[in-house]
Amino acid sequence: MHTTVGIIGGGPAGLLLARLLDRAGIDSVVLEHRDRAYVEERQRAGILEQGTVDALRACGAGERMDREGLVHHGIELRFDRRSHRIDFPSLTGGRSVMVYAQTEVVKDLIALRLAEGGGPLLFGAHAVAVEGAETGSPVIRFTHEGRERTLSCDYVVGCDGFHGIAREALPETVRRVFERVYPYSWLGILADVPPSCEELIYAHSPRGFALHSMRTPTVSRLYLQVPNGTDPADWSDERIWDELDARFAVDGDWKLERGPITQKSVTPMRSWVTEPMRHGRLFLAGDAAHIVPPTGAKGLNLAVSDVVVLARALEHWRATGSEELLDAYSDTCLRRVWRAEHFSYVMTTSLHTDPDQSPFDGRLQLSQLHRIADSTAAATELAENYTGLPIG
Ligand code: FAD
Ligand code: DHB
Repeated sequence: MHTTVGIIGGGPAGLLLARLLDRAGIDSVVLEHRDRAYVEERQRAGILEQGTVDALRACGAGERMDREGLVHHGIELRFDRRSHRIDFPSLTGGRSVMVYAQTEVVKDLIALRLAEGGGPLLFGAHAVAVEGAETGSPVIRFTHEGRERTLSCDYVVGCDGFHGIAREALPETVRRVFERVYPYSWLGILADVPPSCEELIYAHSPRGFALHSMRTPTVSRLYLQVPNGTDPADWSDERIWDELDARFAVDGDWKLERGPITQKSVTPMRSWVTEPMRHGRLFLAGDAAHIVPPTGAKGLNLAVSDVVVLARALEHWRATGSEELLDAYSDTCLRRVWRAEHFSYVMTTSLHTDPDQSPFDGRLQLSQLHRIADSTAAATELAENYTGLPIG
């Protein structure tokens, strides 16, 4: 089998790239290791930056998002038992974000690929190796329906996430990895209860960080900072709600509504970048190339911006035969990736309580949070990064 662009991974990065290429008339094959139901139900991100919303609309994947997504014009920072609102449009020249779950973005992109005569999207297709990245005709080796198969390509794109295999095709001599791990994780829950807030609440407290988010007007998504290695089974529903209550506590009358918890999971926090994001005819995009801690809601949005840049470069190559934009791909993306890494790091370390932090560190955190609450300049810095910088 041969295709112009072989895509490993059918998460947001792989599926959106396939959609963009379909629209540009460039053929591709997507190999996804898991089955469709698994990919569609995997609970992950929930916040789309303005640029992600624009990209989904532009490729015809925004219809349900515009109907069902919730536009948010700000967030609330909570610390020292007080609330401070950050208003995005007034600080960013009109930018906002959209609450629309990653599961829904993935469902929309899968439906479009399968319904509109797009190229193949193979579920249960496990890529084993990329060979010949330095040659003119790279090959993906994969297994599907119990058979070993090969896909020869003009270009290969590794959209196979943090545990993928594509980046192993970059020689050790070429690849550099930058990493930081954090001494805490997130316990995330989904609950069948209307959100207790209109906008997301990021709360810093001496007991640790908490985040109140949502999925729909009747489903809440909440997170608690917990120690690494936490077993969700050790957290009863009552313990979770009690701890959330304690961390969101604020002077004045605000009440956290409780409801049945339908899912619990623990996610470790990591900052991680691999450079470069291209080697020969192999490109890396999304979590295959970089991970951010989730506090800034950047992971999914970075995956989208990578593939928007890559699709544009492939279109330029198809139209002109020039690899100029493909050559610029890694540098173009890494500038944005490192900005998001920095923002996610700052959000994470400002809002969480490090188990080893000194009282001095704690006072610095509070000073930084007060600065954001009191200064338009500091709030603008947060708002511009949160709503997302221009793509490309
Ligand atoms: P992925 O979504 O990981 O997709 C990669 C795909 O490749 C998967 O479908 C996988 O099955 C497939 N694959 C892997 N190996 C192979 C192979 N060998 N062959 C074929 N297919 C393969 N971001 C936020 O902004 N907020 C959050 O709250 C948040 N929570 C998260 C929770 C978890 C547990 C994780 C892991 C991530 C979370 N993220 C969050 C990050 C965000 O979800 C990711 O940044 C986003 O999914 C990246 O998309 P992607 O397509 O690059 O990678
Ligand atoms: C969600 C996740 C985040 O990491 C974040 O910063 C905001 C919202 C969410 O899952 O809704």
